[in-house]
Amino acid sequence: MADSKQKNVLVTGGGRGIGRAIAIAFATQGSRVAITGRTQASLDKVAEEIRSVDGEALPLRCDITRAEEVAALNRQIADRLGKVQILVNNAGVAPAVAFLEMDDHLWEEVLKINLTGAYHCCKVFLPEMIASGWGRIINMASTVAKVAYPYISAYTASKHGLLGLTRALAIEMARTGVTVNAICPGYVDTDLTLTNAKLMAEKTGKAVEEALKLFKGASPQNRLIAPEEVADLALMLASESAGAITGQAINVDGGAVMA
Ligand SMILES: NC(=O)c1ccc[n+]([C@@H]2O[C@H](COP(=O)([O-])OP(=O)(O)OC[C@H]3O[C@@H](n4cnc5c(N)ncnc54)[C@H](OP(=O)(O)O)[C@@H]3O)[C@@H](O)[C@H]2O)c1
Repeated sequence: MADSKQKNVLVTGGGRGIGRAIAIAFATQGSRVAITGRTQASLDKVAEEIRSVDGEALPLRCDITRAEEVAALNRQIADRLGKVQILVNNAGVAPAVAFLEMDDHLWEEVLKINLTGAYHCCKVFLPEMIASGWGRIINMASTVAKVAYPYISAYTASKHGLLGLTRALAIEMARTGVTVNAICPGYVDTDLTLTNAKLMAEKTGKAVEEALKLFKGASPQNRLIAPEEVADLALMLASESAGAITGQAINVDGGAVMA
C-alpha cells in the first residue's frame, strides 16, 4: 500500500491523537502532509517529529469552523505544496453532558466543529480533486455515527451527520475519481478519551482507571484502539487500490459495533 506516496495530504486536527498518527503514517509513506488545528505549538511539534525522520510536513494554524480560514489554508498549501489530493477530516471534539444540562452554545460548537468544519473543508478542497480526476476524502466519524450512547447527544448527532455527508458526497462524486469514506473508531487511546474518562470519574466518584476500564470493556477485545490502527485504515482508503471503495463507514473498534 505504498501507492499514496508523493501525494499531498491535509489532516485536520493533526496536532495530536489520531490526526498526529495519520499525519506521521502518510509522511512515513513519502507523502507531503499539511496539518492543521488551532494550536500552532502542537502542530509544530508534530511537524518536527515528521521532519526528524526526513518526512515533509507543513504545520498551518486554522480553525475549520471559519470558512475564510479554510479558504486561506487552501491558498497557503497550494503555494507551498500544491493542490490537496487526500483530505482527512479528522478534527473533532466530544464533550459529554446530559442533554437537558447542555448549553445551546455547546450544541452549536460541536456541530460547527465536527460537521460544518468538515463541510467547509470538502467545499474548499473538492474542486481541485474533481478537476484532476482523482481524490480521497476520509471523514473521521465514530461508532456513534451508527449507534448511540447517553450523555453525548451533540457528538452523536454530529457524527450521524458526518456519516450522512460522507454518503451523499460519495454518490455525488462517484464518477469523478474522488472517493469519500468514513472511519468509525471505538474508544481510541488519546487525550479525548482520557478527558472523558476523567469527567466520568468526577461525575461518578470512580477512579479514572476504573472509567478507562469501562471504556475498554465496551469492546469485545477489551482494550482501547491505538491511534496507529486508525491511521493504517486511512492509508488503505487513500490508496490507489481502494478506488472502488466509496460511501463506506468502516469500524475500527475491536468488534463493538457490527453494523
Ligand atoms: N478518541 C476516540 O476515542 C475517538 C473515537 C471515535 C472517533 N474519534 C474522532 O477522531 C477525531 C480525533 O480524535 P482524537 O481522539 O485524536 O481527539 P484529540 O486528541 O482531542 O484531537 C482533536 C484534534 O482536533 C483539533 N481541533 C478541534 N477543534 C478544531 C477546530 N475548530 N479547528 C481545527 N482543529 C480543531 C484539535 O486541535 P486544537 O484543539 O489545537 O484545535 C486536535 O488536534 C475526532 O473527530 C473524534 O471525534 C475519536
